[in-house]
Amino acid sequence: MDAYNITVVGGAGIVGREFLKLLEEHKTPVKRLRLLATARSAGKTVDFRGESVTIEETTDASFTRDDEVVFLSASGAASKQFAPIAAANGSFVVDDSSAYRMDPAVPLVIPEINADDLAWHTGIVSQPNCTTTPMVMALAPIHRVNPLKRIVVSTYQAVAGAGSAAVQGLRTESAAALDGRHEPSGTQKREIAFNAVPQIDLFAEDGYTKEEIKMANETRKILHAPDIAISATCVRVPTFFGHAMNVWAEFERPVSAAEARDLVATAKGVRLVDDPASEQYPTPMDVVGTDEVLVGRLRGDSSLAGGITFWTVTDSIRKGAATNVLQVIEAAAARGVIRR
Ligand SMILES: NC(=O)c1ccc[n+]([C@@H]2O[C@H](COP(=O)([O-])OP(=O)(O)OC[C@H]3O[C@@H](n4cnc5c(N)ncnc54)[C@H](OP(=O)(O)O)[C@@H]3O)[C@@H](O)[C@H]2O)c1
Repeated sequence: MDAYNITVVGGAGIVGREFLKLLEEHKTPVKRLRLLATARSAGKTVDFRGESVTIEETTDASFTRDDEVVFLSASGAASKQFAPIAAANGSFVVDDSSAYRMDPAVPLVIPEINADDLAWHTGIVSQPNCTTTPMVMALAPIHRVNPLKRIVVSTYQAVAGAGSAAVQGLRTESAAALDGRHEPSGTQKREIAFNAVPQIDLFAEDGYTKEEIKMANETRKILHAPDIAISATCVRVPTFFGHAMNVWAEFERPVSAAEARDLVATAKGVRLVDDPASEQYPTPMDVVGTDEVLVGRLRGDSSLAGGITFWTVTDSIRKGAATNVLQVIEAAAARGVIRR
């Protein structure tokens, strides 16, 4: 890959920091790195390849024609404000927030699944919610040969998915609770230590939360399959890293567990860890700091002939966020759709 001028908005956040780690791991050539955040982090320094990079406060004037790649990893509001400015400068903008995911003019990309959608970007490329990506990665190899008809999914999402403040919130709540005190940190809708909270984001009128609606709409967009019926229930649990979920899926034609297992085993970026005889299945702890989507407990759905059900885990900060973003940049570079 060519070396680009890369600017990260949210460079001090949990995803932004992981992205820098990945640039190292992938030995990505970087011409110049700028890190932007709010006034809270401005002035702090981060070491990158032996040099100290000072974080700057983000303003409209922060973006210049020199920025070849801009990674927005801050918030929906920041993305709405800054993405159009960066794109107007001709930068290749990758947005990690939900601001543009359902915009018909913006591709929503998981490179293993729909890298071809990068061809029609007009400056901004969006990347899916950290729960959508692993579910689609696990289902796509079956969907390609036998289209999905219906998905029911229930998630068990780690606090890291809500940013660095939420990680700290679970830490302090847990310490207080072990000391017999209930001190909600306010980082989740309820106290999260030793609890499970079936609300992530706000409720819509139909009783689903926005997180659940995102999973449904994003899956249809990525797979170019507007008719898949999807019902999601998203639950925050007191794990620090690693999102888990259980998926029930029905396809146009019946699929056996053995067939599904063979197809999933061929998928790039997905690994089966599935052997009930030796009690092998993945857990959130197994994926911390890794990039694969692990799938286990794959079996026939006993409530629906021809349907399947399985468990999957992935690190929301890695393949759910920073890894996918770096892969989007690499795929765009390989296709020559980043302005020089
Ligand atoms: N965590 C995940 O698993 C995950 C997965 C997929 C997508 N995302 C998305 O990725 C983005 C970042 O999430 P995160 O988990 O890294 O959050 P985080 O740890 O809270 O970090 C957020 C970063 O964004 C900066 N920021 C916030 N508002 C800003 C603004 N208006 N202008 C400039 N910088 C601003 C913060 O600056 P300060 O350092 O100055 O506070 C901080 O550096 C969010 O859009 C989130 O929805 C996260």
